[in-house]
Amino acid sequence: MDNRLFEVLYRVGVSLASEKDVDRVLERIVDEAISLAGCDGGTIYIIKGDKLHFKILKNNVLKQKFYTDEILDLFPLKEFQISDNSISGHVAKTRELLHLPDGETARKMGFTFDAVVLQGVDYIVESTLTIPLITGNNELVGVLQLVNARENGKITPFKDETIQIMKFFASQAAVALQNAKLLEEVKKIQLYAIYTLSSAAEFKDKVTGDHIKRISKVSYIIAKTLNQSREFCELILYASPMHDIGKVAIPDHILNKPDRLSASEWETMKKHVIYGSQIIGDSEFPLFQMAKRIALYHHERFDGNGYPFGLKGEEIPIEARIVQVADVFDALVSVRPYKIPWSFQDASDYIRDMKGEQFDPDVADAFLQRIELIAKLYHQNVE
Ligand code: C2E
Ligand code: SIN
Ligand code: SIN
Ligand code: SIN
Ligand code: FE
Repeated sequence: MDNRLFEVLYRVGVSLASEKDVDRVLERIVDEAISLAGCDGGTIYIIKGDKLHFKILKNNVLKQKFYTDEILDLFPLKEFQISDNSISGHVAKTRELLHLPDGETARKMGFTFDAVVLQGVDYIVESTLTIPLITGNNELVGVLQLVNARENGKITPFKDETIQIMKFFASQAAVALQNAKLLEEVKKIQLYAIYTLSSAAEFKDKVTGDHIKRISKVSYIIAKTLNQSREFCELILYASPMHDIGKVAIPDHILNKPDRLSASEWETMKKHVIYGSQIIGDSEFPLFQMAKRIALYHHERFDGNGYPFGLKGEEIPIEARIVQVADVFDALVSVRPYKIPWSFQDASDYIRDMKGEQFDPDVADAFLQRIELIAKLYHQNVE
């Protein structure tokens, strides 16, 4: 391999490794593979048990035909058994790269899958290069399939040089994919732990897990709408469920009082923000640092009349200003021992009316801008 190619591969490997999200890693793998190999399209199949899961499909020619990036939706079959019937199944079984220079060769070898997958779509697959994605510790994580190498617009077999390059590329891609999968699993476990622990407080408060998830998702939506970074949006999704964790330290007779609180009960109640920040404690992890700020500051008000410190405007961390809107809205439309649920309309009017007083106006506007999506979240239990 010449140096330039080595450089390209190195750069691609580094940039793949820096992606942390499985779907984005998969997309990058396919995009880079198509451009490295100079072919029409590529597909990734993920291994799930004894099945191959049809995950990403990109094809520059099909894209032009259908004027859409969502080509995968055109294909009815999303999952199939690993078997010798399909090219990708065969490659998953043998764990060997397979180059078929033309459709005739594929037919002679008895592969039937092309016809099924491409039924109703006027596009002929001729050359295919199908590569197992195998990690350093010999785990098969997926199959990458490239279709229709082209030269001067004409479909050709894949060149030997391309095949060598793709072998290197596939090993980098496999490692990147495995890392992203592991990270995703860790995140899922983390989120599960956070929801579970947070619902301890909410359980006492007779608030269900659904509420925590909604507050968490609405906070995420607001953060996105405010153009916060990906990292920030992900952090707030995970940190916001812990905002009321301090309620575990509030006596039940106060928490569940079906009435207005007395002055001294209210003083006790307000301490839930302090207790919460103490429970979360000092962590080296940004997630828990953010969770602590949210727990401590989510009842500060934009006009400075909130608690525990009476911070004003931008003195209040943005994550707390965001969660406040999501939290109050959820409290308003929900049943509480001390109040009846408000209508969705009344609750959103309240968010509008309290702009600049209780709420950061930009945050309230971002919330109101996405009210239709939020309504769906509340009414249809969408994920
Ligand atoms: P929460 O029930 O989760 O309510 C969170 C926030 O939503 C409240 O923060 C408040 O800003 C808003 N909110 C909830 N219900 C209403 C309402 O009917 N009208 C208006 N304008 N806003 C509402 P806040 O006030 O700091 O209260 C913190 C927590 O203290 C509440 O969490 C709840 O657990 C408790 N709490 C507040 N007021 C009462 C009450 O009158 N009786 C009882 N038993 N608990 C109360
Ligand atoms: C396969 O046989 O593995 C799929 C081929 C195709 O892209 O249709
Ligand atoms: C109270 O002052 O008793 C509770 C405050 C509130 O109603 O939100
Ligand atoms: C704190 O972060 O504990 C103090 C915040 C403040 O008083 O402004
Ligand atoms: Fe609270």
